[in-house]
Amino acid sequence: MTLLPKNPCGTPYLILAPMEGVGDRCFRKAMASIGGFNEAVTEFIRVPSNAHIKSLAKVYFADETAPIPLAAQLMGSDADLMAEMAIEIERKRAPRIDLNCGCPSNTVTGKGAGSSLLRDPELLHQIAKSMVQAVSLPVTVKMRSGFEDTTLFKENLLAAQESGISFLTLHPRTKVEGYGPPANWDLIAEAKSILKIPVVGNGDILKVEDALKMLQNTKCDALMIGRGAVINPFIFHQIRAHFQKVPYQPQWESIVRYFEVYFSEISAEMPTRGKINKMKQLMSFLFKGNAELLKRRDAILTSAYTDLDSFLNFAMPLLQEGWSFSN
Ligand SMILES: Cc1cc2nc3c(=O)[nH]c(=O)nc-3n(C[C@H](O)[C@H](O)[C@H](O)COP(=O)(O)O)c2cc1C
Repeated sequence: MTLLPKNPCGTPYLILAPMEGVGDRCFRKAMASIGGFNEAVTEFIRVPSNAHIKSLAKVYFADETAPIPLAAQLMGSDADLMAEMAIEIERKRAPRIDLNCGCPSNTVTGKGAGSSLLRDPELLHQIAKSMVQAVSLPVTVKMRSGFEDTTLFKENLLAAQESGISFLTLHPRTKVEGYGPPANWDLIAEAKSILKIPVVGNGDILKVEDALKMLQNTKCDALMIGRGAVINPFIFHQIRAHFQKVPYQPQWESIVRYFEVYFSEISAEMPTRGKINKMKQLMSFLFKGNAELLKRRDAILTSAYTDLDSFLNFAMPLLQEGWSFSN
């Protein structure tokens, strides 16, 4: 089975990136209502102890973003626990399991997980291999280009490949770089030249032209997009439209549905004030991509409504008024 099959007309396989805090279940479901991507990935699921395995009791990966598959991402540093969790995830019908080797958070790296694994290719190898051996699902790795620098870049790539993983996603910034400098796409090209397994390119794709440039410059096998999709939820459709040589006009109705799905998902989870703030967070990303919306940003983000209906009655017409797509 090809894991990263091309879409019609040579469109690359498109993955919605894992984004802890922003790209949660509510966002993934809202994005699934717009569609255009081939696969989504959960934010990292910490595996510090098997207590977390029990917390997965109600999760079914086959349901959440259906019909778009949702892969599970695990983060931890204990090979046995990671294998145990991988087995549990397989029971929950996820299509693949990804090992996080990129999270820069010090609370994470302090425990030896996330990007800390990039300081120890042997441990990275051991964890990925124990996951690969524990399940029949494809196991993959998502990594940054290094911890402090890229000295171990090649070792880490090979350690991952030799563990038997199916593909590797590269976000080419080091842990120390955080999100500061631009993603170094040359490293994606380098990974392609070193590895036999497919490489998914990730980092700083904000518009169709960026996607085309990354494909052309790196020869990567598929694309993963994170912040670009929060700013512009239609980016995947726009990339497809480019390859299919058809016009694509994002519809206001799709944005309304996007917010509706988002609301309905958060409704059960939080108090009204929390819901409004979460809504504002999502809207604040949307503003970044559109000059007209940006002009209305402050009015929406500083509004003091405390009930959801009043907030929506105020914010949605403003959004609609400013809605003009720049792509
Ligand atoms: C708010 C936020 C949360 C993130 N959470 C995760 C995560 O849980 N797992 C992970 O592998 N990467 C995570 N990332 C990194 C993204 O998946 C991606 O690699 C990075 O943002 C670069 O891609 P982009 O420029 O398309 O956003 C996160 C990024 C952001 C901005």
